[in-house]
Amino acid sequence: MPEYCVTGGTGFIAAYLIKALLLKGHIVRTTVRDPSNAEKVGFLWELEGAKERLKIMKADLLVEGSFDDAIQGVDGVFHTASPVLVPYDDNIQLWYAYAKTKAEKEAWRVAEECGIDLVVVNPSFVVGPLLAPQPTSTLQIILGTVKGMIGEYANRRLGFVHIEDVVGAHILVMEEQKASGRYICSNSVRHMSQINDLLRTKYPSYPHENKCGNQQGEDIPHSLDTSKITQLGLPPLKSLNEMFDDCIQSFQEKGFL
Ligand SMILES: NC(=O)c1ccc[n+]([C@@H]2O[C@H](COP(=O)([O-])OP(=O)(O)OC[C@H]3O[C@@H](n4cnc5c(N)ncnc54)[C@H](OP(=O)(O)O)[C@@H]3O)[C@@H](O)[C@H]2O)c1
Repeated sequence: MPEYCVTGGTGFIAAYLIKALLLKGHIVRTTVRDPSNAEKVGFLWELEGAKERLKIMKADLLVEGSFDDAIQGVDGVFHTASPVLVPYDDNIQLWYAYAKTKAEKEAWRVAEECGIDLVVVNPSFVVGPLLAPQPTSTLQIILGTVKGMIGEYANRRLGFVHIEDVVGAHILVMEEQKASGRYICSNSVRHMSQINDLLRTKYPSYPHENKCGNQQGEDIPHSLDTSKITQLGLPPLKSLNEMFDDCIQSFQEKGFL
């Protein structure tokens, strides 16, 4: 059974990857910046199989060489740790896109130079139930929007995807020998106002944001071609209703709503 490393184990995507890999019986190493922070990493030890097959190691992307031990000898690395946070508002959106594009280009350059078999999965806005004790990244944005705590929702049109599909896609490209290049992983593209309407209709008792941001340029109609990951074998992606229902239900169960 292959042994894998998942970087940034406390993150939304990483924690679900660890959970799925442990359930499949893999030995998993994960990196976090502070393994002694029980508040942040404690939930990982509660995952099924964690006590027997999970190793949590210290590594920081801003410290050169700190990942060497964690990736030494593993069969594959799921690299999800990122010092760049998924942005809350339109103003830093362009910087986020710039940083992510730069990082991926650099990854391809290094992979070619060092002979690394790199495959990239690019999910759209990831939605699903909360696994960690506190919401991170996109879940913070959804919670803030439903609670009307951000001031406005972004004037953006973007794709949405269920966390289970994102995890499925990552494991598929790791296991499937034919996988190569870049894979878009996304379901429907919607404007944030449509998501706001959907949530307001389904969950009318919450305050919800009611003002759209006025930043232009990110609201251009577009579609995302996910045929490549589907052809590789990813089953039909979960719907908007499923991803948001799972997300809101977990917020309710954990007392955030
Ligand atoms: N969520 C989405 O909708 C989405 C969509 C497309 C792409 N992505 C990308 O997918 C990746 C994972 O996203 P996510 O939503 O799971 O992110 P997340 O929940 O914000 O987690 C990112 C993790 O990165 C770690 N981290 C931050 N700075 C670090 C550093 N200097 N060194 C090492 N680790 C560091 C943090 O872990 P510690 O604080 O414990 O160290 C954090 O748990 C990111 O690259 C993100 O840009 C996400």
